[in-house]
Amino acid sequence: MGKVELHHSKLHGSLVSTVTAVGTRNLDGSPNYGTFAFITWINIQPLMICIGMNKGHNTLKNIRREKQFSVNIGSIETLDEVNFAGITKDPIKNGKFETFYHEEDSERLCPMAGNLPICMSFSLVDIHDYPTSSAVIGKLESSLADESVLDPEKTHLDMRKVNPLLFSFSGPSYFSLGAFEGKPWAKEPRADIAPKDRSLPDEKE
Ligand SMILES: Cc1cc2nc3c(=O)[nH]c(=O)nc-3n(C[C@H](O)[C@H](O)[C@H](O)COP(=O)(O)O)c2cc1C
Repeated sequence: MGKVELHHSKLHGSLVSTVTAVGTRNLDGSPNYGTFAFITWINIQPLMICIGMNKGHNTLKNIRREKQFSVNIGSIETLDEVNFAGITKDPIKNGKFETFYHEEDSERLCPMAGNLPICMSFSLVDIHDYPTSSAVIGKLESSLADESVLDPEKTHLDMRKVNPLLFSFSGPSYFSLGAFEGKPWAKEPRADIAPKDRSLPDEKE
């Protein structure tokens, strides 16, 4: 087969993920944002998410205490802000995000990042501790998206407009979304993709 054995540290970059800014409430009530790429959905009904967090992070300490957090999807446009929140604990990073509180979450006051295109709030379900990190599991409570990243009917997300910031340990590297290649779960996933659907929305006729 021509496969080459590589150390696991050279291959964990094969799982590409979306970069997010996770918002939490500090003890004094101020917002804190940390950058998290070890993140995935783990349950559909209800929608639940899992994030791998290093035990030293303020984000994890805040979640243990406040039992809530927000997940804000990083975009290519916000690469600098999201990257900065991932390299420092200095509170200066929190000013890079336009904090707002969703009305329906007002009892819980979960800070969300208004300058990121998609903002979701979660209540804490569980934390599983491992040697260096913890797996934080949350249940979706509210979800908001900028109108500008929706389809013309304003009912569905257009991920090309979100332009998500993607991460790989290979490099490590940031990437953007590539072309639309097919419809998952379809019997013929590649069928009927018009050439114009492969291009960015701005490039469509
Ligand atoms: C692109 C990127 C992705 C990151 N992903 C994670 C992650 O999934 N889990 C984690 O524990 N730390 C991750 N980090 C590191 C934290 O964001 C960083 O240590 C941050 O300073 C933690 O802030 P806090 O102490 O305010 O929570 C990532 C950093 C970057 C730059």
